[in-house]
Formats: sequence, C-alpha cells, structure tokens
Amino acid sequence: MDNNHIHVIFGASGDLTKRKLIPALYSLYLNKMLPEKFLIVGAARTEISSASFRELMIESIKKYYKSGDFSRLKEFADHLLYEQIQYDDLNSYNYLNQRLEELRTRSNINGNTIFYLSTPPDLYYKIPENLALVGLNREDNGWKRIIVEKPFGYDLDSALQLKEILLKHWKEEQIFRIDHYLGKETVQNLLVTRFSNGIFEPLWNRNYIHHIEITAAENIGVENRGGYYDNIGALRDMIQNHLLQVVGLVAMEPPSSLEPLSIRNEILKVFQSLRPIKIEEVSSIAVRGQYTSSTINNEYIKGYREENHINPESRTETYAAIKFFIDNWRWGGVPFYIRTGKRLPVQVTEVVIHFKPTPHFLFSRNNIYEACNKLIIRIQPDEGMLLEIGIKTPGQGFDVQNIDLDFKYAELASQRLPEAYERLLYDTIKGDNTLFARTEEVIAAWKFLTPVIDAWKNNHSIPLYGYPAGTWGPLEANKLFDEKNISWHYPCRNLSNNNTYCEL
Ligand code: BG6
Repeated sequence: MDNNHIHVIFGASGDLTKRKLIPALYSLYLNKMLPEKFLIVGAARTEISSASFRELMIESIKKYYKSGDFSRLKEFADHLLYEQIQYDDLNSYNYLNQRLEELRTRSNINGNTIFYLSTPPDLYYKIPENLALVGLNREDNGWKRIIVEKPFGYDLDSALQLKEILLKHWKEEQIFRIDHYLGKETVQNLLVTRFSNGIFEPLWNRNYIHHIEITAAENIGVENRGGYYDNIGALRDMIQNHLLQVVGLVAMEPPSSLEPLSIRNEILKVFQSLRPIKIEEVSSIAVRGQYTSSTINNEYIKGYREENHINPESRTETYAAIKFFIDNWRWGGVPFYIRTGKRLPVQVTEVVIHFKPTPHFLFSRNNIYEACNKLIIRIQPDEGMLLEIGIKTPGQGFDVQNIDLDFKYAELASQRLPEAYERLLYDTIKGDNTLFARTEEVIAAWKFLTPVIDAWKNNHSIPLYGYPAGTWGPLEANKLFDEKNISWHYPCRNLSNNNTYCEL
C-alpha cells in the first residue's frame, strides 16, 4: 500500500458519510490500516467550515462506531477538512483541484486520490465528467480512483449511459462500483465455505439441491430516505445489486485463482446464464408488496404512504420476491427464490440451500420440506452457519426429528467482524477491485430485471399487495413455489431459533 493519499467524499453532508464512511475510516485508522499520511476532504453543497465538519464527524463516530474505542478520535479528526462544492459548476472543480494541490504540498502527499460519490444518484453523471474536465482523473503524479455508490443507473438505459460517461473519462481499473454486501465477511465466507471444504462442492449442483432461497428482510421502514426510496423501490434497491451479487457467489463455478478477474469472470458467467424472464410471465414469477400501517406493541407504525417524502398514492414496492432459474450445467432446473422487504418482522439476511430429500422415504416424514436437509448461511445478524439433519428420536420405533448443527461467528471470541465499508475502503486504497462489481455484471443484472421493471411499471393489472408492517409480506409470495408443502423459510433473529416461525 502506498504511504499517502487524499480521500475526497462528495455528498459529505449526507447520511452515508455520517453513518458508514467516516466511522469505517476511523476504524481503519484505529487499526493502523490507513497510510502514514492521509487527508479526508468532505465536499458538499452545504456551507460549513472545516471545524464544524470535524465536530459533526466526531459526533457521528461516537454515535455509529460500534466498538466504542474513541481513544484516537481527536487525532483522527485532525485529518478531516471540508470544501463546499457546486456540482454543476466547473469553476468549483477547478477550485477543488487547486485546493488539493495546496494540501498535497503542505502535507507532502503525492497525487494519490480517491473520489467517493456518495451523492444523490443523478449526480453520478456530472461529477466524474467534471473531475475529468479539470484533469483530476490524470495519474501523472499518483493514482486516481473513483468509487461509485449504488444504484448504478436506474434501469438498463441509464446504466448504459453511466457506463459510457465513466469509461469515456476513466479507465475500468480506476472505477470501483461499490456493493457493500460484497464487503460483508459472511458474504465473502460463501467463497470459503464452498471452495475450502471438500464436502460441499460435490453436492452443490442440480443433482443434490432442490432449491435455493435468499432472503434480505429488514424490520425498519424507509426512515428518512423517502425522497430516494420512492423513486427506487425494493427491486432496484436490494435485488438488482446486493442479492444478485449473493446469487453470483452461491452459484459461480470455482475460480481458477483468487485473482480479481478470475472471480469476477465466474460471477459474470452466472449473470449471463440467468434465464431471461418473459414479460408475460412476470405476474407468475414475481410478487410485489407495500407495507401498510399497523400497531406493534401498542405503538402505531405508519404505512409506507404515510411516511415523510412519500407520495400518498405511491405504487413503489417495499417488498419484492422473485423466482428464477440459471440455465447452465450446474443449475439446470433448480429454482432460486429471492425476496426482500422493509417492515418485515425481523432484520435477517440469509441463504438457505435446500437439499433434495432421499430418493425413498424409509422413515416416515410429514412432508418433503421436512425431509430436505438445509444448509443455512446466515449473513447477518447472529452471523454463522447451520446444517439441519434428521436423527432418530430416542425411544421406540424409528421416528425422525431434525436437529441443527451450528456455528456462530460470535464464538470466535477474538475475531472482530469488520464493517463492510471498512473492507471495501481498505481494498480501494490497495487498488484491489475483487469485491467490486464490474460494468458487465451491472449491465447483465439490469438486463435480467428489465422485464419485471417494465411490467410493474406499465401493467397495472399486476397487483401491488398491501401487507401490514411487521408481517412477512404478501401471502401471495408463497404461490411462487410450485410444490405443495414448500414455502419460505421464516427466519428469526437468532440462528438457533431455526424452524420457529418468527413474527412479532
Ligand atoms: C442499502 C439500501 O443499499 O442497503 C437500504 O439502500 C438497505 O435500503 C441497506 O436498508 C441494507 O444494508 P444492510 O447492510 O443493513 O443489510
């Protein structure tokens, strides 16, 4: 790693900077993972001084940095500065350029610079272009890298347009398209689970797997992000990026090495093998919903349409579930079910691999669902893994009961699970883009979802089901399963409560 750089965060007055980026950078600093010489320059439209920015960031770290070690907060804050910027005005970028030059000279830092786009997505087109127009993409005196937050485009056309603008001014290896799910330890552990154990890979295919389920449930609503969310919805917010990336890691072929290109190539092949969805089948393979008000523990919970900055007649989905297939040799015929939603009973992200039942039921089983062994990979919270197997119920006869073999990360007492953004910011500093999405993947993901996006937008006969806040989304989502007795796995917050139906 080079021993100096400047980190510019556009959108520095926003939520992401406060909640995630600055606490993650502080954690890297605390763990001695930042270069010897570095500066963090916050940039946004708001007019504030560097001193006030520092104060605000100190407060944010105290609020959001979970480990609670604030011993080096003051010295970290000395590296923070603020510059006001008008995103549309080229003069503003010229000024920024000059200012960075002064800071470099003053702090003896070369040209190494990271630009983080943490602004509203409509600015992703302007900022990279304006930076390039004033020469801030040139690497004469050190590297220049640009981190683009999701959503990368709003649909296929806008993603293609964004791709064109970025690649016109920046080289692919300078662009880091962040998907914070890839920064999660437990998501990376999918690779390790699959490819460091001899026992899983032989079973990891259509011969032994019945179906695969991926759930990202959140119990929060849209909070104060209504303005953004109402234009986006669950499909674009979570499925197009985070959940499809998880699908990529679950379904990919073994990479030939751990080289970034080798891993990303295998993920891309998965995306290219997704069976195209026909627009006329959208109503049978996808379900959308929107939360309605309810009362939970005597507290009134607003429905989506009553939230701040939400159109009271909004038809934006806060729940999306979809069934699809991957047409290749490994996965031919295996259904994948993914779902996500806000205001569900618990916050849980997990992958469930349902293995096929034995070919003959020697012992009596109530139904096929019960007879399928399950491997649950818990991405968050209560991170860990659980294998559900059948054993003989002690006593007379041969009754079978399912038990859980489980592992939890919390048991590795000495190991801290770093926040996703820490890993990704650190990788950007190192110039390692293994855990970042490539353009082709993003475009393939948009292509795959376009029929659903179009049908949901244009065909009003496709229902948008209401579901009361605190429930598991529309019951209609169970109809995505063809077989009787198969339905979603309803996870609880704690992995050990497997097989308990968790509700509020
Ligand atoms: C973000 C989405 O990308 O991911 C949010 O925009 C969502 O709507 C968040 O809440 C979920 O992230 P995590 O890490 O809490 O699962």
